[in-house]
Amino acid sequence: MTSKKRVLVVGGTGYLGQHVLQGFSQIEGKGITSTSPFDLAFTHHSNPPPQALLDAHLLPFQVDLKTGHGFQAISQTFGRPDVVINCAALSVPRACEMDPAAAMSVNVPSSLVNWLSSFEESSSLLIHLSTDQVYEGVKSFYKEDDETAPVNVYGKSKVAAEQFISEKCSNFAILRSSIIFGPQTISPVPKSLPIQWIDGVLSKGKTSEFFHDEFRCPVYVKDVVAVILALSKGWIYESKQTKVLLNVGGPDRVSRLQMAEIVANVRGYNPSLIKSVSASSVDRGVMSPADISMDITKLVRTLGIAPTSFRDGVRLTLETEAKSS
Ligand SMILES: NC(=O)c1ccc[n+]([C@@H]2O[C@H](COP(=O)([O-])OP(=O)(O)OC[C@H]3O[C@@H](n4cnc5c(N)ncnc54)[C@H](OP(=O)(O)O)[C@@H]3O)[C@@H](O)[C@H]2O)c1
Repeated sequence: MTSKKRVLVVGGTGYLGQHVLQGFSQIEGKGITSTSPFDLAFTHHSNPPPQALLDAHLLPFQVDLKTGHGFQAISQTFGRPDVVINCAALSVPRACEMDPAAAMSVNVPSSLVNWLSSFEESSSLLIHLSTDQVYEGVKSFYKEDDETAPVNVYGKSKVAAEQFISEKCSNFAILRSSIIFGPQTISPVPKSLPIQWIDGVLSKGKTSEFFHDEFRCPVYVKDVVAVILALSKGWIYESKQTKVLLNVGGPDRVSRLQMAEIVANVRGYNPSLIKSVSASSVDRGVMSPADISMDITKLVRTLGIAPTSFRDGVRLTLETEAKSS
């Protein structure tokens, strides 16, 4: 066993999970190198672990958060992790709405927290991904101490998770993330990514509808990774006791219409392709909060990280995609 610190990414096969693993592994070119100063492991669930992650010598474990099955194998071959980043979730609000019980059992990570508490020396840091959808969406620039009042099952499951973790864990960071955007992952995820989706729709040259009355603070994926790395390093190298709740968003409050306008502007598409409609004109099978823009003063002050503007993030995303195609 090496003296390297151990980092476990739960949900390491998902969009953010893969970017986090890449961040911890140090990025070189398109691939992941094995030069990390950490021992890295990740969990997968419904599919076998992607070859690209295995090639990077990252240790895979199959885990089901609903049952806790798989955690004992981690104890036996990897040991107690110093840092756990929980990126696993049922992250599609409509899927949560259709199966509230599944949403609660995956999104409230009781099996993970109970497993961490089972170690005699229980000094792991748990970094848990929450969402801006814990807020009701009736005002702009929510602060962390504003009341949570989620309008859908996804948001409710995330509030329950926040409460559970705050009560049970002695060291934790809860990150309330806005829409995460950025380049595709090393092993492509099946879901559509926000900027690539807008780009794909507009590139066809057909008129498309976007909501003018739904506001978010989209955050560039590498900024979320930077936040996670900063918290992890603070814990590993400075033993910083951590109980923190942070809004993690970009610096810009934008409507979905404005997101499309910025993509069109960066790509040079005709802006008249973009048609403004109200969110109420479409039934998405789930309530979606109107304005969950967030105040990120606490994030900037606590970690000294200034997230990328939406326009720069879009440019970086599309440049990266162009290079890898
Ligand atoms: N992406 C966003 O825009 C966004 C915005 C706000 C907050 N968040 C939050 O950020 C986190 C990461 O989001 P993401 O977009 O990266 O999610 P994602 O791509 O949907 O990945 C979800 C991960 O969870 C795993 N998982 C699902 N069910 C599981 C179960 N029963 N047991 C164990 N693992 C399970 C999946 O594994 P398999 O694929 O192998 O099943 C996958 O690795 C989530 O908590 C999400 O709610 C995301």
